[in-house]
Formats: sequence, C-alpha cells, structure tokens
Amino acid sequence: MFDFSPDADLPKPELYRQLVQSCDAITSDEPDAIANMANVAALMAEFLPALNWAGFYRMVDGELVLGPFVGRPACIRIPLGQGVCGTAARDGRTKLVEDVHAFPGHIACDAASRSELVVPVIRGGKVLAVIDLDSPDLARFDAEDAAGIEALAQLLSPRI
Ligand code: SME
Repeated sequence: MFDFSPDADLPKPELYRQLVQSCDAITSDEPDAIANMANVAALMAEFLPALNWAGFYRMVDGELVLGPFVGRPACIRIPLGQGVCGTAARDGRTKLVEDVHAFPGHIACDAASRSELVVPVIRGGKVLAVIDLDSPDLARFDAEDAAGIEALAQLLSPRI
C-alpha cells in the first residue's frame, strides 16, 4: 500500500516538492508509461486541493489522446492548437488560464471547470504528453503551481 499523506496546508513550493518526491518514488522502478501516468494522476488528485480533473493527454500521431486521469469522463481527442491543451502542446509551453470562460476555444469537458493549468512533457525536443489540471475555482493556479507541475513534467519525461 502507498500512503503519502499529503498536507494541503503546506506552502505551495513544499507541497510540490513532496508531490514530485512521491511521484519519483512511485515511478522510478516502473517502465510502463500508462502505469506511471495513472499513479501520477492519482497523486496529483490526492496532493493538490480544489481540483475537479487531473490527468494526461498523450501525443499520438499528431493529436492529443486522453490518457490516465482522475475526474469526470473527458473529451477523447484534441487536435493540436485547439483548446488549452492543444495550444500548450502545439507551442510546447505551459498554459495557465485564470478564467476558462475568457479563453477563446476552451474545450469544456466538465461544466464546473473555471480555471486550468496545462504543462507539456517534453523529451528530445518533442511533446510526449500534457499534464492537465482543472479547478472549479477561478484563478486557482499561479506561477508556483506552474513551476511545481513543470518540475513534475521534467521528472516524468524519461518515464512515460
Ligand atoms: N479544457 C481542456 C480540455 C480537456 S479537459 O479540461 C479534461 C482544453 O480546453 O483543452
């Protein structure tokens, strides 16, 4: 059994340090990408407060395809350049959206979502996947969240 006992009251940098450490521990000896993404999705959902969706879209034949996640059922395929995920994947850059209603082309998978953070996982200059976090709270994510998930993406780059 894994019991990482996250404390959501920790300052964000420390919370993300512990999240990354836990993801490191749970993925370090496992070569299967899907298993690793599934456990990391579960850990993100356990560690990070005020989320309604946490998971992955994988790059498959030039489009994003739904990967392991925690949350409500979601749209399965997202073309590059569409929505927050497709924009982050096309640009190879983090997208932090404080109000999804104000983001042109936002793809609503769960009507409750109000803010979103998407971070690409890059290996050898190519986007392998994106990590997607949704929150029902407006402006839930800030630069500390982006830095924490970028550190996680870097850890996962050789493991998914
Ligand atoms: N909102 C995303 C789609 C994925 S769901 O949030 C899980 C987007 O605009 O790309």
